[in-house]
Amino acid sequence: MSQDDSAKLNGKKATKKTPNDFIFGKVIGEGSFSTVYLAKEIESGNEFAVKVLDKRHIMREKKTQYVMREKEVLMKLNHAFFIRLFYTFQDHDRLYFVLSYARQGELLDYLNRLSCFDENSTKWYAAELVLALEHMHNLGVIHRDLKPENILLNDGMHIQITDFGSSKILDKQESSNSGQEPSQESGNQPKRKNSFVGTAQYVSPEILTSKTACSSSDLWALGCIIYQLLSGLVPFRGGHEYQIFQKIMKLEYEFPDGFSSVARDLVEKLLVIEPSERLGCPEQGGYERLKQHPFFEGIDWDIVPEQKPPTLQ
Ligand code: ADE
Repeated sequence: MSQDDSAKLNGKKATKKTPNDFIFGKVIGEGSFSTVYLAKEIESGNEFAVKVLDKRHIMREKKTQYVMREKEVLMKLNHAFFIRLFYTFQDHDRLYFVLSYARQGELLDYLNRLSCFDENSTKWYAAELVLALEHMHNLGVIHRDLKPENILLNDGMHIQITDFGSSKILDKQESSNSGQEPSQESGNQPKRKNSFVGTAQYVSPEILTSKTACSSSDLWALGCIIYQLLSGLVPFRGGHEYQIFQKIMKLEYEFPDGFSSVARDLVEKLLVIEPSERLGCPEQGGYERLKQHPFFEGIDWDIVPEQKPPTLQ
């Protein structure tokens, strides 16, 4: 329910929040264009993560459309496995996004502390990611920067995906063909290619070759993340981005000793050069087929959000 709706139900006139409605605490996240603070709403005592963006910096760096996209996407997503946007407001210099506070921080921190996850925990978090991607892709949204830093954890240790600053909303036509963007727009004008977004280690080959992302690009990132949770390392490594890109394009990676055959089979079906051949994409039977992979044996898909995740240890 929006701020306006709840105010109307309470018989109050909806008023926009202001920075003075919050007590700002420690910095809990920093990006190139924003700082995220832990903040307490004075009236309710509730804690939030407030993302503060500097207007001048955004305008100077021509990032306005990314900020608008992030807001639009967060407003569309309505699922337990995503950070929620509660309020937005602005003052003369800054924009404010009031987001749910994911108290347990980044999945990456847990991975670094434990070196790697066991197969059971990996299965669980991969299953949560599959459900989140299914919801997002059904709405025609692609994340384009999925990685363990952008997967936060709430009090119940469930995932809360964040950072939609690189995301894209597909139009109807793009949504119906697995989200693969056409290489030409109607007419003779070549479509302006998107500039590179994302993080080198998780970027899919189609983004490197045709500079176009599709929903299947998030499935590639899922394959990288499952490999990383089980082994502690990303599949494509290198000292420079260029070396990483070369390996991605050649599908040059190896499984370490002890990587189970069922996990290996799943990763091999996600890390496929051709986007329309990845398990989970519409051409391959969609999310139903992905959920049926033997790696996920024992997952009761209908009740994952209500269940208690395995303890990470
Ligand atoms: N760091 C960045 N965003 C956050 C959030 N919503 N919750 C917790 N930590 C964060």
